[in-house]
Amino acid sequence: MSKSNTIFSLVFRSFPISPSRNTFVARTIRRRTFTSSYSATADDMTVDIPTTDDKSGTTPTQTAWSSKMIAWQAHSYNTVDDLVLTSNARSPTMVEANEVLVRVKASSVNPLDVLMAEGFGQVLLGTIRQAQKMSLHKPVEFPLTLGRDFCGEIIAKGVKVKSFNVGDVVMGVVPPFQQGCHSEFVAVPAGLVAKKPDHLTNEEAAGLLYTGMTAWSALKLFGGLYVMKATNKNVLVIGGSGGVGNCAIQLLKHWGAKVTTTCDSTAINLVKSLGPDNIIDYTAKDAKQQLEEHGKYDIILDAAGISYNKIGSYTPLLKEWSYAAFITLRSPILHNTDSYGFVGGMFKNAIDLLIPNILSGAVFKGSTIRWGTFIPVECGVKELAKLAEEKKILIPLEKTFKFIDLKDAYKRVQEGHLRGKVVITFDKPSMDKARLTN
Ligand SMILES: NC(=O)c1ccc[n+]([C@@H]2O[C@H](COP(=O)([O-])OP(=O)(O)OC[C@H]3O[C@@H](n4cnc5c(N)ncnc54)[C@H](OP(=O)(O)O)[C@@H]3O)[C@@H](O)[C@H]2O)c1
Repeated sequence: MSKSNTIFSLVFRSFPISPSRNTFVARTIRRRTFTSSYSATADDMTVDIPTTDDKSGTTPTQTAWSSKMIAWQAHSYNTVDDLVLTSNARSPTMVEANEVLVRVKASSVNPLDVLMAEGFGQVLLGTIRQAQKMSLHKPVEFPLTLGRDFCGEIIAKGVKVKSFNVGDVVMGVVPPFQQGCHSEFVAVPAGLVAKKPDHLTNEEAAGLLYTGMTAWSALKLFGGLYVMKATNKNVLVIGGSGGVGNCAIQLLKHWGAKVTTTCDSTAINLVKSLGPDNIIDYTAKDAKQQLEEHGKYDIILDAAGISYNKIGSYTPLLKEWSYAAFITLRSPILHNTDSYGFVGGMFKNAIDLLIPNILSGAVFKGSTIRWGTFIPVECGVKELAKLAEEKKILIPLEKTFKFIDLKDAYKRVQEGHLRGKVVITFDKPSMDKARLTN
């Protein structure tokens, strides 16, 4: 067996996966307590051990899957400085037949990672985790691994996974209520991964799917473009310079919409490369007038996270009586449930959705203010992957950080004013160094 091609797979006795090569039985892994008809225990698992590194040298020398892995984790909700690097994190296991286990090669950092490290979303995400486990008890949140999108190599797959093979290099996305991917391994449903296009680097591929799926779901699901044709729709993307804005512009142009976007003067060259019809420097004195000149809009997507009380200044730019929508990605849902608990938060959410719609006058002109959010769905992942394969979507990267310097990457995202994605590469020296930590 060629060393460079060596891969390893997991085999449950009651969960046959792919043919194994060198095998050993992993004895210590504990399965997640919730789920499924698969009753395999740690002692039922057989794992192929890779005998070598890949040619790129980006993977660590000790690549065998084991019950312990390297990860950056939060042990409490605090600051980014309190994230802890460990080589003793519990490795994920597949618990459904449609899952894949991936050894991560690169991952991006999103504003959500920084917010979640500080406790954002703990009530709602905790409630979803609890519902998944069908438990009356609050699930254990810590240690919490962050990280929502990644590129890596499939090292094991469930029996129902037909479109991927062990050894495939894929890009993928992890729902926020699951353990993330700023770790050596991650387990996700196969529907949330896609083969990495050959022309993309691991880092570029790692930066696509979280912001891509956020833009996709905001426009298609919340903006109604799943049912209505986007052709000739007039769309304003506020914040074309960030990750979500980059993807939104390119998706909309591909779907045939007319796109106006806003960004700072320093981002104009980057944004121009994505192909919008009009770019407006939002710091210019006549920015409002320019926005009006290119309006009125069928959809306004806020991909800049503008403050909630500024939405009212944009709603007059929406077309009247044509289902036009202002979509904000800064919904107060998670904040409200964190502040008022699940029931109180849901009540507050209803008020927070209703009041701006009334006060802005949007509903009286047949338009609406809507909350958009990241929804990971297979057809969206497939569409984004196809566009990436066809070189119809670019993933501008601002900076790549080494795995060992993950906190610096988080701090860069925290500073804001991003011009593309911040990505972490799981480089060999970092991983070797991380292995020496507890
Ligand atoms: N609800 C969800 O599920 C979800 C998912 C993903 C993201 N989000 C939210 O969506 C927003 C965008 O996410 P992202 O990952 O794309 O963030 P990002 O990469 O930080 O991009 C934000 C961009 O907006 C620009 N910007 C800031 N204020 C602006 C303004 N007034 N007008 C125009 N551009 C402005 C920023 O650059 P300058 O400041 O230099 O202009 C930056 O380039 C964030 O608020 C994020 O929290 C929500």
